[in-house]
Amino acid sequence: PVKIVTIGGGSSYTPELMEGFIKRYDELPIREIWLVDIEDGKEKMEIVGAMAQRMWDASPYDVKVHLTLDRREALKDADFVTTQFRVGLLNARIKDERIPFSYGMLGQETNGAGGIFKAFRTIPVILSIVEDMKELCPNAWLINFTNPSGMVTEAVMKYGKWEKVIGLCNVPVSAMMKEPETIGKTLDQLTYKFAGLNHFHWHKVYDEHGNEVTQDIIDAMYEGKDGGLPANIADVPFFKEQLDTMKMIPCGYHRYYYRQQEMLAHGLEEFNDPEKGTRGQQVKQTEAELFELYKDPNLDHKPEQLAKRGGAHYSDAACETIASIYSNANRHIVVTTKNNGAVPDLPADCAVEVSAYIGATGAKAIAFGELQPAEKGWLQCMKNMEHCVEEAAVTGDYGMALQAFILNPQIPAGTNAKRVLDELLIAHKKYLPQF
Ligand code: NAD
Ligand code: G6P
Ligand code: MN
Repeated sequence: PVKIVTIGGGSSYTPELMEGFIKRYDELPIREIWLVDIEDGKEKMEIVGAMAQRMWDASPYDVKVHLTLDRREALKDADFVTTQFRVGLLNARIKDERIPFSYGMLGQETNGAGGIFKAFRTIPVILSIVEDMKELCPNAWLINFTNPSGMVTEAVMKYGKWEKVIGLCNVPVSAMMKEPETIGKTLDQLTYKFAGLNHFHWHKVYDEHGNEVTQDIIDAMYEGKDGGLPANIADVPFFKEQLDTMKMIPCGYHRYYYRQQEMLAHGLEEFNDPEKGTRGQQVKQTEAELFELYKDPNLDHKPEQLAKRGGAHYSDAACETIASIYSNANRHIVVTTKNNGAVPDLPADCAVEVSAYIGATGAKAIAFGELQPAEKGWLQCMKNMEHCVEEAAVTGDYGMALQAFILNPQIPAGTNAKRVLDELLIAHKKYLPQF
């Protein structure tokens, strides 16, 4: 019987995670689930934790959901630890968005200056979780969702020296859920190959005869078919000529780079509209609605409204990964894991987001091969930017933080870059003991 620990248990996504575990119970017989949160999230955890217990009580399975603010108590003898916490909660995200926007730069949860600061706040916490795990559950797997998921996962491997870690994201899941029907196929008829970084990967698709169908999906999307773009990303189309030449499907987040001008304009328009505000401000509203629903003692299943969140279906990846490790199923899942040559344009020991087979020994990245110059250039720039961010997050070195800012394509280099960095350092002081 399996013990699961979820750190950041007060998240509004927790019911989705429960649904995923209930669905897979035969393959993954869970005995207990421990939700862990902090004082600031206690009330949220109590509401969503009661809801989680009702979901299990309505199922045929006997599983107890424990709630605690004592992380170490929860981690004792855990088999799988999932992380979905948000250091500083949504108020910190809103600062990550509003401060860069106020200087005319992109303010976004995982991209640009905001994404860098989310890493700065999160990496010290994840490393302290790893230290606890070394002591309390040295054989457990760490399944990370906490954003920026790629950098946080890489920091666990590189600075935490913890190998049993897998990073996840819902973006590949959404693409694989929606794209097959754009060409009249089902997912099990297709073979997907992903490679790149978290929120910066591309993919190719093949049919049951081994013929590549990537271009057919691209064409179908330009005919208006739904390719599974997450709810949090504005639907600015890619240039078709670019994709026809690239011959790969970029992930939804690539539009912040390939259509930077339009995405920034869209973000600034919402930022300047008092009725709308930034994505974080909009999410605050959705979250409040969700918690009102969760309070209903008769609600014992995941509500529809969760689909308004950009991360919908993320727990499918989490539960599928855990079940595949536990039962050594070797299923194809897109994960952040050690490169090991799958993407030869990047170092073998860095983290990449790739198609992998997931079994008892973890993830085996599937070889993708060399990229063309345009993608290779982007990828190497972004990976090295990530390295600078992680190093600054660990050391608190101001010069290294500035290096990351100047390298990041969302931050025009110059006086304003330094001003945004300084302002964010002050705004988040409470959560940045390393600086
Ligand atoms: P949220 O704001 O609801 O935060 C979840 C919980 O984390 C809160 O209850 C909060 O109190 C708690 N928390 C904060 N600091 C903590 C700490 N030090 N230890 C333990 N708990 C702590 O967040 P959310 O919107 O549910 O998202 C949670 C995280 O998951 C975020 O980092 C988000 O970016 C990420 N996310 C990732 C994906 C993905 O695709 N990888 C999808 C969805 C969400
Ligand atoms: C997704 C991403 C997640 C991110 C989420 C934001 O699509 O994969 O990593 O956390 O969107 O959604 P939100 O509803 O919080 O803006
Ligand atoms: Mn993601």
